[in-house]
Amino acid sequence: MFIRVIRGQLSFLILGVLAVQKHVVNIMINQISDKADRGEELAPAEIQALLEISDPAELQALYDCAYRVKTKNVGQVAYFRGIIECSNICIKDCCYCGIRKSNTQVERFQMDEEEIVREALWAFENEYGSVVIQSGERQDAAFIEMIERVVRRIKKETGGKLGITLSLGEQTEETYRRWREAGAHRYLLRIETTNPKLYRKLHPEDHDLEERKHCLALLKKTGWQVGTGVMMALPGQTSEDLVNDILFMKKIDVDMIGMGPYIPHRDTPMGEKIPPYTDEQKMNALTLGLKMIAVTRIVLKDINIAAATALQALEHTGREMGLKCGANVIMPNVTETGFRPNYTLYDNKPCTDENSSMCRGCLSRRITGIGETIGFNEWGDSKHYSERVKKELAP
Ligand code: 5AD
Ligand code: FES
Repeated sequence: MFIRVIRGQLSFLILGVLAVQKHVVNIMINQISDKADRGEELAPAEIQALLEISDPAELQALYDCAYRVKTKNVGQVAYFRGIIECSNICIKDCCYCGIRKSNTQVERFQMDEEEIVREALWAFENEYGSVVIQSGERQDAAFIEMIERVVRRIKKETGGKLGITLSLGEQTEETYRRWREAGAHRYLLRIETTNPKLYRKLHPEDHDLEERKHCLALLKKTGWQVGTGVMMALPGQTSEDLVNDILFMKKIDVDMIGMGPYIPHRDTPMGEKIPPYTDEQKMNALTLGLKMIAVTRIVLKDINIAAATALQALEHTGREMGLKCGANVIMPNVTETGFRPNYTLYDNKPCTDENSSMCRGCLSRRITGIGETIGFNEWGDSKHYSERVKKELAP
């Protein structure tokens, strides 16, 4: 009898402590979300506190807050960018990336002009408002000219209606200008990490963080809608690094962000030392990816944020989860199935056996399943970009 009374009181006490904890958490999230709604800036310590949340109820409150900020600023529309991975030939040697030049295990390919245009037209006919043309980095004249011709052709053959994003690495000002004049209007160049020491560890000597920052400035200067992003869950990376990453993206006033968790690739110097992720490691990397999306949405509000494919490599519904945490862009693969297995940046990349129609159907079902609409036939430019241009043009 006595033991039963003590046990009853104990569980009462524990429930009480949990309720108080939840209350405190809700106060923190509420305070921060009120600040976000009032358009007030979050202090770095507040950003870090959000990134360090681990309690499931707190996490859900964070995601809900980010979803409210997203709904208020950019609505509940997911924009599709059909991604064409047109070549895995790369002059760079990033220690994490499966298509790095020193990886001899990968069969190299380069799509020809016809192939790229055909895939862009498939995206157009299937009501995708935009495509992303991505490849390993090349800076030779033949490549630069080929991309310029491809952009011009896609623009011409779609009556200027298909939006074109390029994701083709570091280039000169002249090249950025040429591709912009040819008709592409958005450019993605991930900074990967803004911590100089970590950047050094992830890249060989001749890869330069400052050069990458300079390229982002050149893209702004040459009139692009500019996107960048980072990887999270990198070995040795801290929550402070991620705070600095978000503050960097804010400082350079980016229009769009594509970021995702690092996933080891077995044929890379970084990945060969790491055994395949356990379920727990997958869940941790996924959660960090979702937290970064949520916090970035809360801090940067009206930018476009992509739910990276890497999220889906960690969890089947990872990309929808990204949308529920604040992302508003999805990049379905429109690359011909035969090429896909050779564009493996990390292990277990999803959708390598599927074809473009399957990905369109699959993602459309999943997005409508979470109550969002798809911005078919729309460019879905970042609201932030329109506002930025308006400000620049104001007298
Ligand atoms: N895990 C996750 N993302 C990766 N990328 C490259 N390798 C990996 C990896 N192992 C990302 C980089 C690059 C983008 C095209 O893919 O951030 O910018
Ligand atoms: Fe490619 Fe589902 S998105 S199969």
